[in-house]
Amino acid sequence: MAVTLVIGGTGNVGQALVPGLLESGQSVRVLTRNPEGEVAQRLAEAGAEVVRGDLDDAASLDAALAGVDKVALITTPSPHQLDHAGAAIEAMKRSAPEAHLVRMSARTPEPMDGTELGRHHAEIDDAIQSSGLSWTIVRPTFFMQNLIGAAGGVISDGNLYQPFKDGVLPMIDVRDVAESLVVLLTTEGHEREINVLTGPEAIGMGRVAEALTKATGNKVTYVDVPIEAAEQSFVEAGFPQWIAHAFCELFEGFANNGWTTVTKGVDELTGHTPRTVDDFAADFGSFFSP
Ligand SMILES: NC(=O)c1ccc[n+]([C@@H]2O[C@H](COP(=O)([O-])OP(=O)(O)OC[C@H]3O[C@@H](n4cnc5c(N)ncnc54)[C@H](OP(=O)(O)O)[C@@H]3O)[C@@H](O)[C@H]2O)c1
Repeated sequence: MAVTLVIGGTGNVGQALVPGLLESGQSVRVLTRNPEGEVAQRLAEAGAEVVRGDLDDAASLDAALAGVDKVALITTPSPHQLDHAGAAIEAMKRSAPEAHLVRMSARTPEPMDGTELGRHHAEIDDAIQSSGLSWTIVRPTFFMQNLIGAAGGVISDGNLYQPFKDGVLPMIDVRDVAESLVVLLTTEGHEREINVLTGPEAIGMGRVAEALTKATGNKVTYVDVPIEAAEQSFVEAGFPQWIAHAFCELFEGFANNGWTTVTKGVDELTGHTPRTVDDFAADFGSFFSP
């Protein structure tokens, strides 16, 4: 049975990816800094081998990589993301040079190096392509589940506060990202592919508000907020200033330029059309209801 190490397995995508890999019969090892945490425990109960490790601790990466066939690499957005991804690549070169790396990148506004997170992803993807490792890269667009962060406004006064102006983008459901990653990690023939993953249509926040209205039965109205106010509210919600600013750079790029290109990436990998915003709203509507 193939052994897959998931780095970032306790995060937003990882929590859907790890069960998907287990269901498809893989042996899954999850690296986490906190094996006693609630998410790690849940993944262990589902059948994953949970190991303590840290991208800042090279020896822990070497130990986690022992005997693995595949590695899923998901890094959290932070000023350290470049170093963290670099540490994982170097550890694979040392300790699992024959393993296949599937790395989650991102589809960011163009030019990719025009934003801090876009630059991170471009540099990491370049490093992987020149690493000598076997690799596949996925670049999903904005996750629908990010919208849950705006649920407070919807619940308190029926307003979806977002800084996207009239910008549109083909946002994607995290479950489709995870299912696509499962396919890439469990089937052959995806070496050296860069898969751009989108949802089924490019939509703006007005359309999201319509979907939430329908799903919750309560009127939801999109209210465009200035980008500076959005950055401030991320900081007030506890995000470090660097991350608040980096997120808002991306949002500003999508607000100003939009992005209408829809890809067939999810269809081709999973065999089904990607979930719509109405599917997302129906399944996650309870987060937006009092
Ligand atoms: N949100 C979007 O719309 C979007 C769209 C496209 C691409 N992306 C990209 O997706 C990635 C984030 O994915 P996500 O949201 O699933 O991740 P996430 O929820 O931010 O969690 C990532 C994981 O990072 C782990 N982690 C953090 N620091 C670590 C360290 N020092 N050593 C080991 N593990 C560490 C955490 O594990 P523990 O805490 O358990 O150690 C957690 O499992 C980013 O690269 C982002 O740019 C996001």
